[in-house]
Amino acid sequence: AKWNVYVTRLVPQPALDLLAEYCDLEINPEDRVLTRAELLEKVRGRDGILCLLTDILDDEVFTAAKGVKIFANVAVGFNNVDLEAATRHGIMISNTPGVLTEATADMAWALLFTVARRVVEGDKFTRAGKYKGWGPLLMLGQEITGKTLGVIGAGRIGTAFARKAKGFDMKILYHDVQRSEAFEAATGGTYVDKETLLKEADFVSLHVPLMPSTTHLISTPELKLMKKTSILINTSRGPVVDEKALVKALQEKEIWGAGLDVFENEPELAPGLAELDNVVLCPHIASATWETRTNMALMAANNLLAALRGELPPQCLNPEVYYRQHGKM
Ligand code: GLV
Ligand code: GLV
Repeated sequence: AKWNVYVTRLVPQPALDLLAEYCDLEINPEDRVLTRAELLEKVRGRDGILCLLTDILDDEVFTAAKGVKIFANVAVGFNNVDLEAATRHGIMISNTPGVLTEATADMAWALLFTVARRVVEGDKFTRAGKYKGWGPLLMLGQEITGKTLGVIGAGRIGTAFARKAKGFDMKILYHDVQRSEAFEAATGGTYVDKETLLKEADFVSLHVPLMPSTTHLISTPELKLMKKTSILINTSRGPVVDEKALVKALQEKEIWGAGLDVFENEPELAPGLAELDNVVLCPHIASATWETRTNMALMAANNLLAALRGELPPQCLNPEVYYRQHGKM
């Protein structure tokens, strides 16, 4: 008999086709997040679940999912998963590192250019019929070439983001919990403490995972350290930035602008954020290219199939579950 697999929301077709070769698939037919009650019901009696960063996976879900071998999360970030609870329940969790690195780094650049050169403001202005001819002081922005880039988080995405600065003759500063020789070799960047980075960078881009230690990594004191002309870019996770504090800093022109792909209480926005001209807002689409979303879904599907075959999924986040079940630990 085929394995019984549930998919919590439609993902690109190649991944569904791959799963359908080996599994009886049920897919959430609606293009929306499952309610909590639906999720708790749908995980029952399955062998595996393909899930998304919008599904909150905790002890209650894993209790309902008795017998499920794996939740294959279509995302690199896994702050939606209580990994410790999954391990306790003997359920494997996998993520999709690597395949979305370049797309996410590209999006950070897209936001940086858009904010620095006022692309969205310019578009709105022009469409509204306000453009009455070239002006020497019309919509002046911030030059990017030759500036200092501040990268917080020196993992795969932060490294790719900084590497892409090569064409713009930038000085690169970075900060992380520890120095990274790989980052320095790939980017020529210099390791500095967070304060120095915030004070000296013209643009600050965030590439850390969401954890207790990175929650509100950027709040009022950090925003005050930044230059008045600086721009903050966030393509990581919303709660890394204290969004209320950011709204205040943008209103009071403590910093010059911000580009955000993620929000603290997604999909809600902090009061005042949407009214500001000096911020560009995107709906969590950094990995949203056809190629990347397909590759993410395929990677998740392959992790799921590996678990069902009794193999260690290549991107398993809690391999101790596998080793325990296979008597290797
Ligand atoms: C997207 O935000 C991801 O973590 O993959
Ligand atoms: C996440 O994929 C990272 O390492 O930046």
